Amino acid sequence: MENSLVVRLACESDVEQIRQIYRPFVETNSVSFEAEFPGHDAFVDRVVTLLKTLPWLVAVDFTREEPSAREFEEKPTTAGGRVRGFAYAAPHRARAAYQWSVEASAYVEPSRHRSGVGRLLYQHLFSILARQGFVTAYAGITLPNPRSVGFHESVGFSPLAVYRHVGFKLGSWHDVGWWERQIQEPPLEPRAPIPLPEISDALAPCASVFERVTGSHDTSRGQEDDSSPGGS
Ligand SMILES: CC(C)(COP(=O)(O)OP(=O)(O)OC[C@H]1O[C@@H](n2cnc3c(N)ncnc32)[C@H](O)[C@@H]1OP(=O)(O)O)[C@@H](O)C(=O)NCCC(=O)NCCS
Repeated sequence: MENSLVVRLACESDVEQIRQIYRPFVETNSVSFEAEFPGHDAFVDRVVTLLKTLPWLVAVDFTREEPSAREFEEKPTTAGGRVRGFAYAAPHRARAAYQWSVEASAYVEPSRHRSGVGRLLYQHLFSILARQGFVTAYAGITLPNPRSVGFHESVGFSPLAVYRHVGFKLGSWHDVGWWERQIQEPPLEPRAPIPLPEISDALAPCASVFERVTGSHDTSRGQEDDSSPGGS
């Protein structure tokens, strides 16, 4: 039985699987500094809100024998498949001068660790971020986490600094190490980053999320509107 791993934008219907991959990092350790596991609706809002500006990607496994794999190849806006991992970029800080900087995160289902899922997700993530005009990505890693450090350094991140005792969770204080990766050369006269829905062929959006993000019921519109990748 042949499997195929596809990276696409997250859909509402992926949220439950994303939550279950994320859950242990909230409830049982300090990889995430979030203290309460977010409910389904709050998580849907989180994904949909982020997708208005930035990419939230999932790596989904389709078994070739399933009709959904064929459907996806014919029409990549189709949701479905088993989510094996996800990655997203969030704004680094809110003030205007920071607008070209993002924070990247990736989480992969444990049974698929070290099989290239994280790398594939970040390849797509950084290619989209470059096209949007972002310049620098940061990764904040609760220490120790040799898996995440090894992973981020393998995809081009370099260590920057350690914030000592910056967080308290599950009964102890934690250090967070920061890593950086240049997405592209800083332009002399940067234009504001292009919101994700205006990138014509970033990755096929699922219909359900596309409607939430753009308010449109026509899933082809975003792709036709933005004929120039550098537009708007
Ligand atoms: C960190 C994480 C996302 C990496 O994803 P992954 O799919 O397992 O990583 P990949 O298989 O794509 O690995 C790519 C490269 O990263 C490095 N890497 C991955 N796992 C590693 C490990 N356990 N130790 C050292 N380096 C590692 C290797 O260089 C690897 O390339 P190689 O296998 O050819 O040697 C995954 O381990 C994970 O979900 N961890 C738990 C959640 C987490 O800590 N997320 C990061 C929050 S800051």
